[in-house]
Amino acid sequence: MKHLLSLEKLSRDEMVAILRSAGSFKQQRGRDPRKPLAGQTWAMIFAKSSTRTRVSFEVGISELGARPMFLSAAEIQLGRGEPIKDTARVLGRMVHGAVIRTYGQKDVEEFAEFSGIPTINALTDEEHPCQILTDIFTFEELSGPIQGKVVTFVGDGACNVPASWVWAAAKLGFELRIAAPKPYQPSADLLQRAGGRVVCTEDIKAAAAGADVLYTDVWVSMGKEAESAQRLQTLTGYQINQALVKLAKPGALVMHCLPAYRGKEIDEETFEANAATIFTEAENRLHVQKAILNWIVG
Ligand code: CP
Repeated sequence: MKHLLSLEKLSRDEMVAILRSAGSFKQQRGRDPRKPLAGQTWAMIFAKSSTRTRVSFEVGISELGARPMFLSAAEIQLGRGEPIKDTARVLGRMVHGAVIRTYGQKDVEEFAEFSGIPTINALTDEEHPCQILTDIFTFEELSGPIQGKVVTFVGDGACNVPASWVWAAAKLGFELRIAAPKPYQPSADLLQRAGGRVVCTEDIKAAAAGADVLYTDVWVSMGKEAESAQRLQTLTGYQINQALVKLAKPGALVMHCLPAYRGKEIDEETFEANAATIFTEAENRLHVQKAILNWIVG
């Protein structure tokens, strides 16, 4: 039984296999005879908002031959306190796989343990593995192999997206620089467990110098709304803008996992100048989700 619970638990070979197959799903879209989920039903349990992840999984599951069943966590008994492990044991007897977006990483892991069906982490507070697989796929599609390159993350370096980048850097052999104020840098424990070439710094200019990609995410992740004012104040200055882009390697990509807040983590001019890359990245969520689903049932 395979799951995709985190990049921490995904091997390098598994990552490479998913990335390779995503290219084939992208090329073959619309004339692809592969239906690895034929006749199945997949539950999508979402406790947080989503546009890209929800739509890409719903479309991807359908295109692979299965029926997606969207379940807002607030509208099933989970939202009234039914334990995860009971929800998992019920769904495990009715559906063939589950895609879960929630808060605690332990909830996704508990669901996988008790459901007995393939389970995919569609974002937790700790990791966003599907997003970072897509980001790497997009980088390689537009700029070639990521091994040996420099990825600079700017902004809230202590949230799920940079955490998944940390694991990816360790496994795929690229340098990751995280430019963030001290309170928003990844934990020492995460950095020690992952290993790899990861540099954390408050010096945004040094982090951007010669980078192959500048990457950012929202300053206020879902669930952190109560900290909004503090975050906006502390993270001011950790923005991707034209001055920062000039420090990166000529032709460097600017990427954003979206949704974007112009004037905060990225300015309007830089966002629009890089919209082709950013929306290719968004589109690629679909192709990579299909590769993940195909891998997980394979
Ligand atoms: N990047 C991302 O996960 O987008 P959604 O929150 O819209 O799914």
